[in-house]
Amino acid sequence: MVNDVFILAIETSCDDTSVAILKNKKVLSNVVSSQKIHEIYGGVVPELASREHDRLIIPVIKKAIYDADVNLNDIHAIAYTRGPGLLGSLLVGTSFAKSLALSLGLPLIEINHMQAHILSIFIDDNYKQPKFPFIALTVSGGHTQLVLVKSVTDFVELGTTLDDAAGEAFDKSGKLMNLNYPAGPKIDELALKGNFKKFKFSKPKVNGLNFSFSGLKTNFKNFIIKQPTGFVENNLHDLCASLQYTIVSILIDKIIEAKKIHKINDFVVCGGVSANSFLRKKLKDLEHKSNIKTYVPKINYSTDNAAMIGINGYFKFRNSNFGNFSDYSVSKYNM
Ligand code: KG4
Ligand code: ZN
Repeated sequence: MVNDVFILAIETSCDDTSVAILKNKKVLSNVVSSQKIHEIYGGVVPELASREHDRLIIPVIKKAIYDADVNLNDIHAIAYTRGPGLLGSLLVGTSFAKSLALSLGLPLIEINHMQAHILSIFIDDNYKQPKFPFIALTVSGGHTQLVLVKSVTDFVELGTTLDDAAGEAFDKSGKLMNLNYPAGPKIDELALKGNFKKFKFSKPKVNGLNFSFSGLKTNFKNFIIKQPTGFVENNLHDLCASLQYTIVSILIDKIIEAKKIHKINDFVVCGGVSANSFLRKKLKDLEHKSNIKTYVPKINYSTDNAAMIGINGYFKFRNSNFGNFSDYSVSKYNM
């Protein structure tokens, strides 16, 4: 077994083309090219996303190799996102990873995107890390899940959204306020100057550990369309703060519920929405008010990136869990 493991990781599941190189758990480079082309459409256009990945993958990989200051001959394995994600986007990364691994004679490692979000907390040994078993809240543009994590290879879903994801609630409500896609970061920024108590939006009543965000989206839409011209512009900060407060409260309530049911105190909160500053603040408050300990990846590793694919690749390499060049069943990665 080699002492130091160098992994080249590729992420192309949605609209970020990313390549990272890791030496064990340390990130040597993590290049993310976020596709701007979707902004004006109010959401990701799958056909355009695949074409953009195809255009960007070579410059991104070249920069990742340059930044890491390594040679392709130093690499021990190629890790790539197998799913879940947009099929066309995944195919670009899959084909590229397979060709690269084949040409270099390296093993291939298949990664589940959502598990990678969770394991991003283990990047860099000096970062504050949870103990197993812990519960992960994965909140992104496509997913909102609570997952019991018993080890780096043992994941059990405890609850999921019955309709929209938390990120979609941000993005679709943002679109109603004429904000470009993805609206989440913009709402976060605008909310800083807003009053979260100004408007009250509905919170869903979903038993157990499942989530629902479609009711809130409809409630927000019905509220906005009733208002006179100029209302959104004149109340933008308060609307963003109130909407953000509602989404974050739904997430925090479920963490408290999950702790009660499973008697586990360590929570990892990951996925794009975990970059939200108000959510991060509320998680800190939770630590002070109860004995819930929360762990949130660094901002760079919260939204889609290949470093998280690399850390998962590292664990799989150590467990000799390699992929197959000819297996093509995507279903096992649609977690
Ligand atoms: O994990 P991610 O980068 O991609 C997916 O796998 O979906 O998550 C993207 C989602 C988008 O919905 C985006 O609006 C949201 O994360 N997001 C945020 C923030 N940064 C990204 N939502 C709220 N506040 C943020 N600061
Ligand atoms: Zn993601």
